[in-house]
Amino acid sequence: MAILVTGGLGYIGSHTVVELLNNDFEVVIVDDLSNSEKFILKNIEEIAGKKPVFYPFDLKRKELLEQVFEAHPIEGCINFAAYKAVGESQEKPIDYYENNLFSLINILQEFKKRNISNFIFSSSCTVYGQADTMPIDENTPLKAAESVYGKTKQMGEEILKDFAVGYQKKISLLRYFNPIGAHPSARLGELPIGIPNNLVPYVVQTAAGIREILSVWGDDYPTEDGTAVRDYIYVVDLAKAHVAALKSLINNPSDKAVIDVYNLGTGKGSSVLDVVKAFESATGVKVPYQICDRREGDITVAYANADKAEKELGWKSDTTLEEALKTSWEWQKYVTSRN
Ligand code: UFG
Repeated sequence: MAILVTGGLGYIGSHTVVELLNNDFEVVIVDDLSNSEKFILKNIEEIAGKKPVFYPFDLKRKELLEQVFEAHPIEGCINFAAYKAVGESQEKPIDYYENNLFSLINILQEFKKRNISNFIFSSSCTVYGQADTMPIDENTPLKAAESVYGKTKQMGEEILKDFAVGYQKKISLLRYFNPIGAHPSARLGELPIGIPNNLVPYVVQTAAGIREILSVWGDDYPTEDGTAVRDYIYVVDLAKAHVAALKSLINNPSDKAVIDVYNLGTGKGSSVLDVVKAFESATGVKVPYQICDRREGDITVAYANADKAEKELGWKSDTTLEEALKTSWEWQKYVTSRN
């Protein structure tokens, strides 16, 4: 069965491609290399011992996308391709709406035309905003998104729900908490462009001496140590959740609309300083840091109740923060050795 993976050379996409190949799916990747690199394809082949098909183009190019559907018996899609920088989304809102939503609609047009079902969407816990209660389960009310990026995720979810209902399709909305870590082979991982925005890439680059010092954005939050709390989930566990969600859609015999929603996290909250300490204990490398003012738009705390995914998909994240951070460090060493 051929599965279209858009953004399949990106951070979460590449790890998911490996898991799909390990589960004997044929994989067709479309990725425009705007936030990924070609050597990842070779590394995927090395790890999985199989070759995905790869097309380098922008999904807004409808005519090229149509040719992919003509050439392969595609029976499902996992849609990772999207811009994802929160700050940048505020500066370039129209680019974010165009890129993240037009590409989604183009794929759905092909699904409609060819009567294909089984669509998995990369969503985010950002759709909940600062939730009033913790942990966050799938029934937690959604709040107005804090960024244009977050709005593209909320809008993507709405478009897909209407698609499922309007055409009796099966879709799954996967709301990720904070993905971290790299493949245990150290051949796949996150490749931030320029100065990283996210915590773990910044910690890793500081440990490697690429950045001088980590800025901890605020120590006056109402949390145990005063720094903000997130649910950091290991990327390989996250990749496996996609395969479980896909199999669940495929095996669902319903000919009516199926709309699955899952929170993908560990269920455990960790503070910024917890991450720094866990990194230091996992690697033995010191991370110099300074306390700074809060970062605008940051929420205080977000961690998942991921029981639904465990109950319905038989999926659970069991990798510890230390184990995940150790893989990030091994990946950084590999990236350094390539430069
Ligand atoms: N942080 C620092 N210093 C840094 C970077 C981050 O202290 O250099 C802190 C942040 O203030 C925050 C925590 O580390 O408290 C995590 O920050 P990230 O940027 O790694 O992650 P966010 O939780 O802010 O953002 C993530 C995803 C977004 C998504 C959002 C939803 O990166 O795509 O979760 O809540 F929108």
